[in-house]
Order: sequence, then C-alpha cells, then structure tokens
Amino acid sequence: MRFEVKTGAATKVKTSCLILPVYESGPLTPAARAVNTASDGLIADLLDGGDIRGKVGDTLLARPGAGVAAKRIMLVGCGDKKKFDRKQYRRALQAAYAALARTRHEDAVSCLHLETAKGADAGRRAQMTAEVWQNASYRFTATKSTSNNGATELKSLGLLAAGDKAAGIRKGVKRGEAIGAGMRLARELGNLPANVCTPAHLVSESRKLARGNDRLKVEVLSEADMKKLGMGSLLSVTAGTEEPAKLIVLKYSGAAKSKAPVALVGKGVTFDSGGISLKPGPAMDEMKFDMCGAAAVIGCMKTIAELKLAINVVGVVPACENLPSGIATKPGDVVTAMNGKTIEVLNTDAEGRLILCDALTYVQKFKPRAIIDIATLTGACLIALGKHRSGLLSNSDKLASALLKAGDAADDPAWRLPLGDEYNELLKSNFADLANIGGRYAGTITAACFLSAFVEDTDWAHLDIAGTAWHGGAKKGATGRPVQLLIEYLISHA
Ligand code: BES
Ligand code: MN
Ligand code: ZN
Repeated sequence: MRFEVKTGAATKVKTSCLILPVYESGPLTPAARAVNTASDGLIADLLDGGDIRGKVGDTLLARPGAGVAAKRIMLVGCGDKKKFDRKQYRRALQAAYAALARTRHEDAVSCLHLETAKGADAGRRAQMTAEVWQNASYRFTATKSTSNNGATELKSLGLLAAGDKAAGIRKGVKRGEAIGAGMRLARELGNLPANVCTPAHLVSESRKLARGNDRLKVEVLSEADMKKLGMGSLLSVTAGTEEPAKLIVLKYSGAAKSKAPVALVGKGVTFDSGGISLKPGPAMDEMKFDMCGAAAVIGCMKTIAELKLAINVVGVVPACENLPSGIATKPGDVVTAMNGKTIEVLNTDAEGRLILCDALTYVQKFKPRAIIDIATLTGACLIALGKHRSGLLSNSDKLASALLKAGDAADDPAWRLPLGDEYNELLKSNFADLANIGGRYAGTITAACFLSAFVEDTDWAHLDIAGTAWHGGAKKGATGRPVQLLIEYLISHA
C-alpha cells in the first residue's frame, strides 16, 4: 500500500472513495459539509433518514452528486464529538479499512484525521492513520497454499490536507508508515511456524534488512564463538536441539561514533517446549511466539532505518530452540554464565533468562547509555497484567518513566513492577551463585531480578511482553507490540 498526502478541497479530490467523518449528532464536519452542499444535501439526508447512526465504527457507502470529484463517499461514524479520543479514532480507522476491504475500491482518500481527537494533534493523527492501516492490511499468507482470502488490497491511501498543513501530515504519515512496517515484520516473524522461523531464519531476515543499507551492519556469532566467550548459560538452553543457536548483533549508526548507543536485547526462543521440564500440551503451539522479543528488535531496526533516525542503536538477539533430548540440560545442572556467575538450572522452562543473561553481559561491551530487553518471559506477567499492558522493570526511575510515557503516547502501554533485595533473596541456591527460578510467587519480578544480576551499572529496563506480543484464540497471531513503544521512546530521546 502507498500512502499519499493530497492537497485541495474535499469536493475536488479525485479518488474512488472519499472517507468522511460523521458524528451521531450536531452539525456536519467541515469536509462532510462541503460534500453535502455539492451533492444536494445527500449526507444530511442519509443521516436524517436514519441510514447511518454515526456511532463509532458505523460505515455507509454512497454515490455523491455531480459536484464532487470522488466516485463514492464513505461515511464513517465517529460517535459523540465531545468524547472522540485516540481509542475511538483508531476504531473508526479500523472500521473504514474493513469496510473498504469488502468493496472493490483499490484507492481511497481519508478526511478522518481532519477531526480533532483528544490526545492527538494533527501530526499524530496522520501517524496513527498510517500505522493502523498498515496493520489492518497485514495478512499472513506465507504458509498457506493460496494467498487470496477474498478481501481487496488497497493500493493507495490518501490523506487530505490543507496546503499549509501538508508538511506536518506528511511527516506523521511517514512515521506511521515506518512504524507499521516494523510491526508488520515483527508480526510476520512471530506468526511463522517454528519449523520455518529458526535462528537461521532470523539471521537471514536480519541480513536482508541490512542489505544495501550502509547505516545497518549485521554480525552473527556461532555456537563456537559463544563457547569462546564463555556463554555457558545461553548454550545450556540450546543443548537439546539439532538446530544451531545464533547470537545476532544488528548495529545501526545514525549519529556520531562518539554517541553511546541505546541497546535493545530481544529474547529469540524460536520454540519453547520447556525442555526436560516439558510444558503441558494445550496451546504449546503458541510457544512459536517465544521469539517475539527478537521480532520486536528486528522490527524496530526496520523502522529506525526507514526513518533514518539520528541515533545509534545496537540490537542483540540471542536465538535458539528449547527442546528436550538425551543431551539436553537437566534440572539441577549448574552452568556458568559469561560474567562468571554460576546458575543452578532448577527448571529448564525458565530458559529465557538463561539466554538473556549472556546477551546482557555481551551487550555491555558497546557501552550503551541504556539497555532495554524485550522478552516473552513469564506466564506470571499474564496473570499480573493480562493482555493490555507489558510488564516493565528497571533499575532506573528515569528510564522507567520515559518508557511508561512512550507506551502511553503510542497506545502501547506498560506498567511498572518493582525489583528489590527481598525478591533477590528468592533466587538463592545451595549449589550455585543463583537459581534460575524463584518459586511460586512474583514470577515476573524474580525473573527480572535474575536478569538484573547481569547488568553492572548501566541504566537497564526489562519489558515482559508475555501478555502483549500475541493473541490466542480465534484471532491467534502476533501483535507487533512493543515496536510502537520502543520507537516512541527512541524518537523522543534521539
Ligand atoms: N516463554 C515462557 C513464558 C510464557 C508462558 C509466555 C506462557 C507466554 C505464555 C517462559 O520461557 C517460561 O516458560 N516461563 C516459565 C517460568 C517458570 C518455569 C519459572 C513460566 O512462566 O511458567
Ligand atoms: Mn520456558
Ligand atoms: Zn520461553
């Protein structure tokens, strides 16, 4: 899909479908009013006649009068003007896309962003339009024998702008388009089955991103490299599988070499069976999504590169499978991490922290100004926060509040949970420096406490995306979160 900014009057813009906002009551919106006048009172008649109520998400297609250049108009309900906010704006956009996909129109021009929405200025509304429509148009086809599900793909989507507003809208659209592209990539990687999306696949997707982009470099460490570095913790997770583990390093240079990078570290367990501590059968397929942290890092890199952000970012993706076998790591085994600490592996299903701890040690060599790790780390996070907010744990109040703020601004919210010595206690082991599990309570916190033992004095935050990275049930699929939060943070701290 192509996004375009069109300048001129609503009545004059040439398109197969002009999307116009209408409210449940009150006067017509300016764009609708202009079209109404040029169409002999058509819109007022449709509203008065009861053809559309104007509730958020209602849609109605109609043929405008001869005074309008668009072939068709689509009225989109925006509810109560006084209550119209970002959430309702997103719903209106989604409804408009869904209604268009049921038609044969291949291009449209929208006026929805011309309405004010609480908490979103004009640039933000333009950004949201592109982001929502990028996501609405995403379809997973990679492992289906036919790619056609009957819906129409929109080829071009325009946003109408008054001449003096075009620059701001263009900038917003560009951002939203790039964020949407990063989310689509993250979703695609998440959705691919584990027999396709292996560590090697994440490597080739990373290389593909970097190809022809001189700001982006990819380096890949093999198991032999990891062994040399002493990554005994990471390697203990991959011990049971034939599939080689990889440590992918993506380096984006958008600022002077002297500027310390932000480090993003993403959990890339391409399948988590639990290992010898085998998971129960129901929904085990969903453990193909256990690389969604890695997918978010790779997705972010795509967005960052497309926007040519003036920052340095290093992405590190430890990628492997967690499978049982005769040579798999066993409960009770003690392994030595890259920083020299010994770990008693009491449960092989607490594997995310075992790969992340070595990746965290490794990434500190880049002297990052902040480290953010992103991981589908604990089922306990779903119990604590459900599917709406990602868990956030950090050793820095400043970094934590910046990330919370970014999550709210991007409609990709997180919620902070505490760290602390009283929780560190729970990781004590009789046989090693620390155990890899902390017992029944506070599972999300003890997992983060474990990670904190591998961060020296860099500002660090951990995002537990176990609840937010994918949907189960009928809508099963990756969400692309928290690419939005991360990009919002990176843009505002560039
Ligand atoms: N990948 C899982 C966490 C997970 C489970 C995410 C379900 C989303 C849905 C992780 O590797 C894991 O298995 N964690 C264990 C930790 C426990 C053994 C301390 C868990 O949450 O049960
Ligand atoms: Mn696990
Ligand atoms: Zn896992």
